Amino acid sequence: MSNITFTMIKPDAVADGHIGAILGKIAEGGFKIKALKLTQLTVADAKKFYEVHAERPFYGELVEFMSSGPIVAAVLEKDNAVEDFRTLIGATNPAEAAEGTIRKMFARSIGENAVHGSDSDENALIEAQFHFSGREIF
Ligand code: CMP
Repeated sequence: MSNITFTMIKPDAVADGHIGAILGKIAEGGFKIKALKLTQLTVADAKKFYEVHAERPFYGELVEFMSSGPIVAAVLEKDNAVEDFRTLIGATNPAEAAEGTIRKMFARSIGENAVHGSDSDENALIEAQFHFSGREIF
């Protein structure tokens, strides 16, 4: 399934009222929605999802933030989905993100950066399966 990626609209962008605008940018970017839900991560979910960052100094802050409020989780389909989606969202730090990218337009800061995008085909599949059952992916 190398044509899928996984995304979350993070608690900052949900709280700031950007769900509709971000889904609009995703559709304009040519991505098809394969799965979609409004949900909230528990602290345990967030710790597990971000396990690869456990040794980073910002891990505690990241886990606290990502479990602090509702998120939108989605599986997206497009040729070259992982790379093209990372282009659409822009750099991790919105101050360094290109004009017109989702993070440039909607993120608050490097930690509260509006959206997640998978960094590899392998992780896209793992992350999609973390959030969705087979019945929820169309
Ligand atoms: P994302 O790429 O979705 O997954 C890892 C997250 O860690 C990243 O988005 C940021 O939200 C967060 N992150 C990365 N670097 C920092 C940092 N220096 N300070 C706080 N959070 C960070």
